Amino acid sequence: MNINNKKKLGNTTPSSIQWFPGHMAKARRLVQENLKLVDVVIELLDARIPLSSRNPMINEILKKKPRLVVLNKADLADPLINIKWQQTFEATDNPETGRVASIAVDAVKGKGFAEIPTLLKMLVAEQMARLVASGRRSRPVRCMVLGIPNVGKSSFINRISRRKVTETADKPGVTKGKQMIKIHKDLELLDTPGILWPKFEDVEVGLKLAATGAIKEQIIDVEQVALYLLAVLMQVVPENLISRYKLNELPSGAGALLTQIGAKRGLLRSGGTIDSTKTAVLVLKEYRAGMLGRVSLESPPES
Ligand code: G4P
Repeated sequence: MNINNKKKLGNTTPSSIQWFPGHMAKARRLVQENLKLVDVVIELLDARIPLSSRNPMINEILKKKPRLVVLNKADLADPLINIKWQQTFEATDNPETGRVASIAVDAVKGKGFAEIPTLLKMLVAEQMARLVASGRRSRPVRCMVLGIPNVGKSSFINRISRRKVTETADKPGVTKGKQMIKIHKDLELLDTPGILWPKFEDVEVGLKLAATGAIKEQIIDVEQVALYLLAVLMQVVPENLISRYKLNELPSGAGALLTQIGAKRGLLRSGGTIDSTKTAVLVLKEYRAGMLGRVSLESPPES
């Protein structure tokens, strides 16, 4: 796996992972091993791109394992679209295929976390009741976090366990083995998140992953990503662009808008021409920080 030396797979993972078939098979195997230890899975998705940030083989990997679909970074996505996504995911709840609940959270500020323990226990309530009815001792519900790089797995684990789990695990001498952390009465969480790969199959998915910061710009041309994003923002939140960049009106295309933003911010090359790369980086940074509004790049189908 091509990762930088600062962080290692199994703890926090940088977004610069380059996934190859061998890496995917290994990641899947690790996840499948850990799945045996837990009752319920917390599947983290990026609320702005729930489809593109979902592992394409997730149903095959989880099979009937109950799951809580967490729309993380909900603070950066459209609140109404977040609710629609939650309803869409919950509509797949089915004892035949696996129980599903969904919630929108902000793992940095801790918003939306209060309800999580109740939802996790609810998802496995029947299973636990059966266990007790068969004469076995009642035990804590065990869960694990799963998601693609940069979706917020470490932030989520740190927030829900109220400690810096991944940082301590990084220090030499500290046990790196799997550990269950008590996160609530009768609820335990595997301290190591499962890391899976995102979808790669089409260009638009790649652009969305890059726009939200799930994959680094080095992999995809930064200007191309910014132009894609600006074209979406021009449709969805034109007024936010006008006020943020102090424009009189929007030009007709994303290319002209990028140039205008560069001019307004004084991002020039030595000859006085607009530095479109720097401007693209600025636009992406501001979108990812929520400065251009809470804009979802994917909405669920209407029906
Ligand atoms: P990972 O373990 O899944 O790889 O993700 P991690 O928790 O490291 O989070 C990745 C980045 O996303 C971090 O930003 C983190 O602060 C941010 N993040 C996580 N959850 C949320 C959330 O709910 N809302 C918002 N607004 N941000 C969130 P970073 O430290 O700036 O990292 P980077 O963007 O420089 O990679």
